[in-house]
Amino acid sequence: MSEEIYRSPRKTGRVAILLSGRGSNFRAIDDAVREGRIDAGIVLVLSNKEDAPGLRTARERGLETLCLDPKLFATREDYDAEIVRRLEERNVDLVCLAGYMRILTPVLCRAFKNRIMNIHPALLPSFPGLHVQQKAIDWGVRFSGCTVHFVAEEVDMGPIILQAAVPVLRDDTEETLSARILVEEHRIYPEALRLFFEGRIEVRGRRVFIDG
Ligand code: GRF
Repeated sequence: MSEEIYRSPRKTGRVAILLSGRGSNFRAIDDAVREGRIDAGIVLVLSNKEDAPGLRTARERGLETLCLDPKLFATREDYDAEIVRRLEERNVDLVCLAGYMRILTPVLCRAFKNRIMNIHPALLPSFPGLHVQQKAIDWGVRFSGCTVHFVAEEVDMGPIILQAAVPVLRDDTEETLSARILVEEHRIYPEALRLFFEGRIEVRGRRVFIDG
C-alpha cells in the first residue's frame, strides 16, 4: 500500500485559533504574525468559554472572535460541525489549538486533516493527557519539554512537527517546570506555523519531514 503524503502549502495563510483559557500561546503566535515572522493572518479566535482570558485579549487586539456555547448543541459532533462551517466560511488554512480544552470529534479532525496543530506540554508520546508537568516530576524523568503536533483522531497522538526539551530539576514544582516549558512552547509553536506556510512541512504516514 502506498503511503499517503501531505505537503503544507506555501502561501499567506489564514489561521484560526481555538482556545479555552489564558491564551499565552495564542499571544505568541499573534506576536509572530504582527512582527512578520509568520506569513499568515489570524482570521478567527474561537472559544467554547465566554470568559476565557484569551478571547478578551483577541478582542483587545482587534481580531474577530467567536464564542460557541457547547450547551446549545445536541451532540459533540453537532458542535464540531458548526465549527467546521465557521472555519470553512472564512477559508481557514490552518487551525491552531492553543489550550483548547475539548476533545475534537472526527467531524472536525477529518475536515481539517493535517491542518490542525496542537501544542502539548510534554515530550510526546510520553505523558499524553492532562497535568503532565506534575506527572513528569512524579516519574522522575530528567527531561521534559513540549511538542507541536498535527491533530489526529487519537488524542495527543498525531504526527510530531517540533519538540523542545528542558531539564527537570530536583526541586521543581509543577509551577516552575510549567514555566520553563512554556518559554519553549512560545518559541516552537510560532516556528511550526512559519515552516507550515513556507511549504516546508511534509507528512508521510506518522512522520513529519521538514525541508532545510
Ligand atoms: C499550554 O501549556 C499548552 O501546552 C497546553 O495548554 C496550555 C495552554 O496555555 N495545551 P495558554 O492558554 O496557551 O497560556
